[in-house]
Amino acid sequence: MLEKLLLAYDGSEPSKKALEFTKELAKKLNAKVTVLYVIDIEKASELLGDMAVDTLEAMMEKARKIVGEAVEELKKAGVEAEPLIEKGGPPEKIAEVAEKGNYDMIIMGSHGYRGLKRLFLGSVSEKVLKIAKVPVTIVKYK
Ligand SMILES: Nc1ncnc2c1ncn2[C@@H]1O[C@H](COP(=O)(O)OP(=O)(O)OP(=O)(O)O)[C@@H](O)[C@H]1O
Ligand SMILES: [Mg+2]
Repeated sequence: MLEKLLLAYDGSEPSKKALEFTKELAKKLNAKVTVLYVIDIEKASELLGDMAVDTLEAMMEKARKIVGEAVEELKKAGVEAEPLIEKGGPPEKIAEVAEKGNYDMIIMGSHGYRGLKRLFLGSVSEKVLKIAKVPVTIVKYK
């Protein structure tokens, strides 16, 4: 129990707060952490029309940078960590990876890049809370 943690991470300030929490928790529990970033294919194709291969490659590059930095930070603190990049709808993918990968807990921020203050939760964290079958920890930003 609590050996495998899934950090849903988008590189935003709120997700960095979730990263800090995950780091402390993983150190205490001696748990392994997977840092997951989901490339939102639907949103991207809406914005860009037909997605060119180089656009997808640019998104992959950005994703690698985002998760890579978080993995490095965890490793520096002595935590075993690995990156994971998936494509799809972010909340659905996060819940699916957690279930199929037998993760003990999902950790995520209350908000992300949009960070609308009037909303209690961002749409990704709200939907993950709704559909995930494993425990979810939401780290509040403010
Ligand atoms: N594409 C993603 N991949 C992985 N985790 C994500 C992704 N997007 C958001 N998250 C996680 O969900 C948390 C909440 O972000 P969310 O996107 O729900 O808020 P928001 O950006 O403020 O609002 P919205 O996206 O609904 O406009 C983030 O801190 C992060 O932990
Ligand atoms: Mg968001």
